[in-house]
Amino acid sequence: MVVVDIFRATSCMVSGLANGLKSIYPVDNVEECLALGRKGYITAGERGGIKIEAFNIGNSPFEYMNAEFEGKSVAVTTTNGTHALVKSLTAHEIIIGAFLNLTATAKHLQQNEQNVVIHCAGWKGTVNIEDTLFAGALINALGSVELVDDASRIAHSLYLQHKDNLNHIAEASSHAKRLSRFGIEKDLEFCMTIDEYDIVPVYRDQQLWLHK
Ligand code: MLT
Repeated sequence: MVVVDIFRATSCMVSGLANGLKSIYPVDNVEECLALGRKGYITAGERGGIKIEAFNIGNSPFEYMNAEFEGKSVAVTTTNGTHALVKSLTAHEIIIGAFLNLTATAKHLQQNEQNVVIHCAGWKGTVNIEDTLFAGALINALGSVELVDDASRIAHSLYLQHKDNLNHIAEASSHAKRLSRFGIEKDLEFCMTIDEYDIVPVYRDQQLWLHK
């Protein structure tokens, strides 16, 4: 299962682990996150795109690139991304995908030769452009795979149609519009960067770790 929330949860997770975090503990609600904060975790996350006041950081990949966080663990809850992860817990293996680690994700899947589900977080139960685009990009990067549903065919053709200007279509998405109201366009641009990192976060013992 590849969990995807391009704007911005899984982009944050990839950025955090690539920049020295020890682990990331995704939880479904604010109270659980605060309880982990009391045990020493850095608390992170948002609701509706806005930082939760009592938390240490919000949900920007740049907030995860703090040298002081090196070797520490983050507890995070977000509107859709962590929810998608918690809903994926019956999978044989859960990994985290983003444009930031697209090729590393594809290589990991190719080495494992398992059936793959790309779990797009979307927005509150609805489809979104940026996660669908990523699903299409991942299908493309995997090469010859058998697509078993129309959602994956739609994702692949959306990606092929826009592959030369992904940012343009991603900027038209509802969540990009929502986030741009908060003046965080640089987050959006960064989240659309392909292959910034060569790492794969893997879920084990309730947390995300760098795959070794
Ligand atoms: C989410 O999980 O819904 C997102 O990451 C929201 C956000 O952009 O902060």
